[in-house]
Amino acid sequence: MSHVSNRPATGTATLRAGLDGVLAGETRLSTVGITGVGLTYLGYSIEDLAEHATFEEVAYLLLYGQLPTQPQLKAFRDRIVAHRGIPPELCQVLERIPSSAHPMDVLRTATSMLGTLEPEKSPQEALHVSERLLGIMPGVLLYWYRFHQSGQRIDPTIGGDSIAEQFLWLLHGRPPEALHVRAMDVSLILYAEHEWNASTFTARVVASTLSDFYSAITAAIGALRGPLHGGANEAAMELIDSMRDPDYAEARLLEMLAKKEKIMGFGHRVYKSCDPRSDIIQVWARKLCEATDLMLLYDISERIEAVMRREKKMFPNLDFYSASMYRSLGIPTPMFTPIFVLSRVSGWSAHILEQRANNRLIRPLAEYVGPEPRPWQPLESRS
Ligand SMILES: CC(C)(COP(=O)(O)OP(=O)(O)OC[C@H]1O[C@@H](n2cnc3c(N)ncnc32)[C@H](O)[C@@H]1OP(=O)(O)O)[C@@H](O)C(=O)NCCC(=O)NCCS
Repeated sequence: MSHVSNRPATGTATLRAGLDGVLAGETRLSTVGITGVGLTYLGYSIEDLAEHATFEEVAYLLLYGQLPTQPQLKAFRDRIVAHRGIPPELCQVLERIPSSAHPMDVLRTATSMLGTLEPEKSPQEALHVSERLLGIMPGVLLYWYRFHQSGQRIDPTIGGDSIAEQFLWLLHGRPPEALHVRAMDVSLILYAEHEWNASTFTARVVASTLSDFYSAITAAIGALRGPLHGGANEAAMELIDSMRDPDYAEARLLEMLAKKEKIMGFGHRVYKSCDPRSDIIQVWARKLCEATDLMLLYDISERIEAVMRREKKMFPNLDFYSASMYRSLGIPTPMFTPIFVLSRVSGWSAHILEQRANNRLIRPLAEYVGPEPRPWQPLESRS
């Protein structure tokens, strides 16, 4: 029997390891690394968004394709706040997840569990599910955290009227300072969307099979967790924490580079000279480290950056200075990547909607490097 397929003839297709430089589809949502354009969300520059917008405006922009009017923003904020409640079954699950679990696993499990309690019954519910996830995630994370830290069952519906404010409020158990809320809000804006990165691609692959919304988000959380992607902000903090002063940091870094170790929070697959988000977060990291007496941390970070630029011509990505900024807000390190989730849910959701609107199953090819065809060996004749 002859096998007919649309596989290109051997040797005619180019293999790009890690899909590096491969155009795999179209998006209207953001531009990453396009010369002269920089990072934009639906045409708005990241610099403008970080300076003028709130995270909720950015989430609305991503989900609905345009900036909200005042009444639209108010209604959107109200809906997100109304979505904060955690079903009792999910509270029970959160109480049973071990306190030793990584909070990313908590979010992954909670998203999956919510999908069993409130399944997406039809694609018309997609926007509702995205808003529900935006509303419930901070409370889920901090319900689990506070329950296992102090046995308290917090009320996840309180905490001001923004995601940034609610996160800090529930974490510390008191209303946060306005400066801290704004810093948090800016970091959520910077983390919201970034084209076809690994976790977004994962979400789109799942969506392309016509699977449900929760499955796509659950899978994306799994992809984000690794230190080469979202987990880099935690790994960067651990690195900075291991340094006692800038001179020691320089010496240690040189040793690490000599051993060809990767320095987390540096480098990027697409950006090759700078990450435009890093300049913005660095200003905030400096401002907050100054305000909270953590300048040693900031000075160590700056020295690491200088050594990386001098020795490797490498630049910090968003994750590097996010680390010291989050520390200055009193956020425990294992919460850093989960914060990325609270924000990126907006970008993932927008991509799932975009994939569904013009869907084709995502199914690339692999170059076969296995054995030549060979005859079947019966079990009893194998040695
Ligand atoms: C982001 C990242 C995965 C991009 O990877 P990539 O495009 O596949 O590049 P590679 O991992 O193949 O690296 C290419 C070269 O640069 C080096 N390199 C890349 N990132 C490095 C880093 N952070 N520290 C030291 N060296 C690095 C690699 O060792 C490799 O060197 P070699 O050619 O001598 O082997 C990579 O830069 C990295 O691992 N960074 C640290 C993790 C991180 O911060 N992730 C968040 C990204 S926003």
